[in-house]
Amino acid sequence: MPETITITDDRTGKTVTAPIRGGVFPSSALRELDPDLYCYDPAYLSTASTKSAITFLDGAEGVLRYRGYPIEQLAERSTYLEVAYLLLYGNLPDSAQLDQWTFDVTHHTFIHENMRKRFVDGFHYDAHPMGMFVSALAALGTFYEGAKDVGDPAARQRQILRLIAKAPTIAAMCHRFSVGLPFNQPDNNLSYPANFLNMMWKIGDYEVDPVLARAMDVLFILHADHEQNCGTTAMRVIGPSGADPYSSAAGAAAALYGPLHGGANEAVVRMLGEIGTFDEVPAFIDSVKTGESRLMGFGHRVYKNFDPRALIIKKAAYDVFDVTGKNPLLDIALKLEEAALEDPYFIDRKLYPNVDFYSGLIYQALGFPVDMFTVLFAIPRMSGWLAHWQELLIDPERKIARPRQWYDGPGERNYVAIADR
Ligand code: ACO
Repeated sequence: MPETITITDDRTGKTVTAPIRGGVFPSSALRELDPDLYCYDPAYLSTASTKSAITFLDGAEGVLRYRGYPIEQLAERSTYLEVAYLLLYGNLPDSAQLDQWTFDVTHHTFIHENMRKRFVDGFHYDAHPMGMFVSALAALGTFYEGAKDVGDPAARQRQILRLIAKAPTIAAMCHRFSVGLPFNQPDNNLSYPANFLNMMWKIGDYEVDPVLARAMDVLFILHADHEQNCGTTAMRVIGPSGADPYSSAAGAAAALYGPLHGGANEAVVRMLGEIGTFDEVPAFIDSVKTGESRLMGFGHRVYKNFDPRALIIKKAAYDVFDVTGKNPLLDIALKLEEAALEDPYFIDRKLYPNVDFYSGLIYQALGFPVDMFTVLFAIPRMSGWLAHWQELLIDPERKIARPRQWYDGPGERNYVAIADR
């Protein structure tokens, strides 16, 4: 069977044959046929927008690998900082590289005092922490002279380090501000996840529980990258315009904020709370089937079998509940999952629990308010965004993103004075 595709333009009889590699053919073949011919592909359902060597995802088989390593092995044996290095630099670090990387990240965790005093203090007292986080990322770029030197590899590395190191600090600061607590400075003696938990919760003699720090780290690993999702695509669209990485990351975080993307775990917990009791589950399932409600935390654009992250998270949830006690919403979630997985509506549409179905329950058991859930997603996703940003900036085929449209509006018409309309 030839690994090619032949397209004929029936209007002209012109034919073009293009190679198929890895299930993809170059759309430049269409330009050869007719430079004014475009594919109409809303939401990029059939379009590979980039070549990437970072994350492999097979939705039908439920496979997720970072730089070739299965997510299950990384979640079991690695740490988030090691995974961030892997995503950014392509290979697992040796021990000297990991020590240096950990030292560097740890020593960039502090933020300029004016970020808190002048910027964060300006928010309304009940501002949503994700709105604050998105804005804080863009604001952070204004503190660093070299932020705009995106063509300079050394400057790029400095910004990458700063963004990964400061994301937990900003996240914790947004939370402390929203509940009126004084900001905790980073503690450079703690690991990345433990430092974050410490900045979030330390009052008096608080000590980070190592089981909870490990659970946080596993959640960070699972959320670090997910190839060309909505937020990463935003990063890849903004980055090639030459914007600094703080602004690009703010754009990616804004995309993540939406309830159909990173905001889904917040929506899951709210949904479980609204269902309220075990007995209400069948009625809720009926309302999903009639289109009145959406089963949040179910379904995925790519995974049509199972989401491998959901399986790992479900196990991590039980580790956390052993320390914190069971989240009362867990029973409703389990019942909902059981009912959905047996129901032809969900089976026929290949709807399975995604990463967000259980992550919210863990976050809640760890004490995080629902408003913080998307921020918790954004902290580790920073390494994925930056890995894609870096990959794109050094790609010789890079061009500014500029899709075409299928114009569907009125033809030319003349301006009418307001009195005559
Ligand atoms: N509840 C009920 N029905 C659903 C759900 C759901 N969660 N998800 C999809 N469907 C239905 C759709 O109504 C559609 O039915 P139809 O064929 O009768 O019209 C069918 O399944 C196909 O769904 P689409 O919306 O076309 O699937 P798409 O790939 O565009 O959407 C998405 C994927 C956005 C994730 C969707 O499944 C959804 O809204 N899920 C709930 C939100 C959620 O959990 N988001 C988190 C995703 S993971 C992440 O971003 C980290």
